[in-house]
Amino acid sequence: MEKITINTPGYRSEILVGGRWEEVSGLLPEKGIVIITDDNVSQLYGDRFPKAPVISLSPGEESKKLGIIEKLAEQLLEEGIDRTGFVLAIGGGVVCDIAGFLASIYMRGIRCGYVSSTLLSQVDASTGGKNGVNLGGTKNMLGTIRQPEFVICDPSMLKTLPEQEYLSGLAELIKTAIIGDKKLFELIEGSFDEIVSRNSDLLTILVAESVRFKGSVVSEDEMETGLRRILNFGHTFGHAFEMQKAVKHGFAVASGMELATEFSFEKRYISLAEKARINNLLKRFKLIANHDLSDDQMKKLVLHDKKKTGTDIHFVFIQGIGKAIVEKVPVGEVLEFYKRFRDKK
Ligand SMILES: NC(=O)c1ccc[n+]([C@@H]2O[C@H](COP(=O)([O-])OP(=O)(O)OC[C@H]3O[C@@H](n4cnc5c(N)ncnc54)[C@H](O)[C@@H]3O)[C@@H](O)[C@H]2O)c1
Repeated sequence: MEKITINTPGYRSEILVGGRWEEVSGLLPEKGIVIITDDNVSQLYGDRFPKAPVISLSPGEESKKLGIIEKLAEQLLEEGIDRTGFVLAIGGGVVCDIAGFLASIYMRGIRCGYVSSTLLSQVDASTGGKNGVNLGGTKNMLGTIRQPEFVICDPSMLKTLPEQEYLSGLAELIKTAIIGDKKLFELIEGSFDEIVSRNSDLLTILVAESVRFKGSVVSEDEMETGLRRILNFGHTFGHAFEMQKAVKHGFAVASGMELATEFSFEKRYISLAEKARINNLLKRFKLIANHDLSDDQMKKLVLHDKKKTGTDIHFVFIQGIGKAIVEKVPVGEVLEFYKRFRDKK
């Protein structure tokens, strides 16, 4: 098992990759625990949950709203959870985002930990302490940054994931490789069959590398005032596709990465060969689709993006595979680029 520590001011978070999730019991306090999960996860794994009250949510993004947080807080109060309480999330990114947000505001903050059960949450959502809920159609508008005490990433849980969920997580893994880890990119390129068959040993390595990279970025810039922005590679356009088309996060980000790669190529930051390698990898796993939005739609969605400051966007480019840079780009230039890209296809 790999243990990766994330140190941020006032917090220390241990990410445990490759161990058995049932061992979570050894990390919990003796009392005052509430488990938050969703109906799919509790159906598959509920018989092995630690002994504690369980609150199961409807699966999916719909549950990520403030009304649910209020209901959950009331349930915690009914369970007699006080400031010494512990929220244990067992689920994917939605469950971890909700549970982490709840734990960070309930009685001004109580302890929490995650058993992260999707590839997307293992490689991305559970590391870094960001959590929160959506506001109407706008994603993750209300939230906090607070590290869970631990995150368990057990690759055996990924065997039960529906194909589309697994691939969605793979897109975020590929993102990590593109922005920060050339060797990881090469490993993914060379391991197609093992990735498709969800080989646990390989997944342990891939998840651990991804967590290690994200952890190093977060340890340096927890509040996203600088370096952490590189993690948003593919997300400017990706979020627009996600909001407009209701596609899964990873697929939207994959299409966003195709655009960000092309934009990087236009700026001569990457070679034609590098662009081809990235696109080939995304296409091999069938991650990118056509998302034609009108100029007006794209403008509206991009202007909603949290990464916009004034009339500029912090756009993430790559300078070769394994290195990302962030530049302030006028919104108009981003939209002009999109138009060129769309009309060329
Ligand atoms: N906090 C962050 O830094 C961060 C980063 C990226 C994404 N996110 C958020 O994560 C969310 C997406 O996460 P997700 O893709 O894990 O979605 P999810 O939590 O909705 O899980 C996807 C589906 O898989 C099911 N599932 C979960 N584990 C399973 C398992 N082991 N076997 C079978 N089915 C299982 C769930 O019930 C759900 O239907 C989005 O809301 C996104 O905004 C947060």
